[in-house]
Amino acid sequence: MEKERHIRIFDTTLRDGEQSPGVALSLDQKLEIAQALARLNVDIIEAGFPVSGPLEFEAVRRIATEVKGPIIAALARTHTLDIDQAAKALEGAEKPRIHVFTSASKVHLQYMLKRTEEEVLEMADRMVRYAKRYVDDVEFSAQDVMRADWDFVKRLYEVAVEAGATTINIPDTTGYGTPEEYGALIRRIRDEVVRGRDVVISTHTHDDLGLATANALAGVLNGAGQVECTINGIGERAGNTALEEVVMALYVRRDFYRAYTQVNTREIYRVSRLVERYTGMPVPPNKAIVGDNAFAHESGIHQDGVLKHRSTYEIMDAELIGRRPAVLVLGKHSGRAAFKKALEDLGYRDLPEEELKKLFARFKEIAEKKGPLSAEELQALVESEREPPPISSSWSTSSSSPAPASCPPPR
Ligand code: KIV
Ligand code: ZN
Repeated sequence: MEKERHIRIFDTTLRDGEQSPGVALSLDQKLEIAQALARLNVDIIEAGFPVSGPLEFEAVRRIATEVKGPIIAALARTHTLDIDQAAKALEGAEKPRIHVFTSASKVHLQYMLKRTEEEVLEMADRMVRYAKRYVDDVEFSAQDVMRADWDFVKRLYEVAVEAGATTINIPDTTGYGTPEEYGALIRRIRDEVVRGRDVVISTHTHDDLGLATANALAGVLNGAGQVECTINGIGERAGNTALEEVVMALYVRRDFYRAYTQVNTREIYRVSRLVERYTGMPVPPNKAIVGDNAFAHESGIHQDGVLKHRSTYEIMDAELIGRRPAVLVLGKHSGRAAFKKALEDLGYRDLPEEELKKLFARFKEIAEKKGPLSAEELQALVESEREPPPISSSWSTSSSSPAPASCPPPR
């Protein structure tokens, strides 16, 4: 049987993720996120783009010096100044990586770089060799590969490998590719550029068409050994591949991908919340893995199934990513089974069938109007609908049900 492959997780939350419109992290916040990423056990942290400014330089320098475990990468264009700054910022790193990038598509060469193909090839060759003078670990990327001509892409990456790049990253910068196309591109890079040499192929996919994770996984299936991604999928425009999605897809479907990561999945939720808080970019409730609803069930049929056996509607445990166990939301779609279970959890066991029926009808009425009920609201509902205890018996001692958090006044 085919051997399982280790897929390196390259986190670029602090570089590509921080390029999200409106996001500006402070130095302390970057450091805290980098420490959290190290606890998550990602393989590589892209800490920033040092030449872009003194604050960015300082953030990369501090992360390189203080964060231990992962490789620390710094971004640089194919300019000596960029590479000098990246190398300088990485001086304190145990495992430094310089990530040199240029562009591959005609539109980028013509309007952005204003260079010919021959000039881009020459600069890539020279600058990868230049970066190698500082570090062994050099990654090379060319933006917008998905919209570039294959012949040029092949020559460009061939030049980078010959110059000493140890990782070649294949960005679909504009999120244009489909999984079939992107997978085929990675396979071609593997077969026609890498050709068995000791070079890691990396995916870097954007989410403009909502295909970033699918494209990255197609890359993995076709030979990629590294995935570039961000926490919560933040990044330019529609964002990057979400780390949590790729990691959990490889975890849950290891049988299919025959590949695994070394990420400590139990840290995922915590890092997600940290990034949400510091970037001010809220995680949508229906976001896979980390959204509020990702492990919540409201419909009666689903709740009934989950109560009978979790696996009826759940493919992974919430605890696996550091969340509390899945919750049953008690709302207008809920059924009697979940309602009864919620009451039992609150201590209302063995309620007579008639009473349960009445309470359920009342609950539905309220939920239709106001939406899901919290445990406290449910408790208040039960208490307000139940027969008051005889005046002589004391509320606090003789009631068979637990005292509600805030007891309604005796009627
Ligand atoms: O999307 C992109 O092309 C990038 C490169 C700098 C790797 O972020
Ligand atoms: Zn990008």
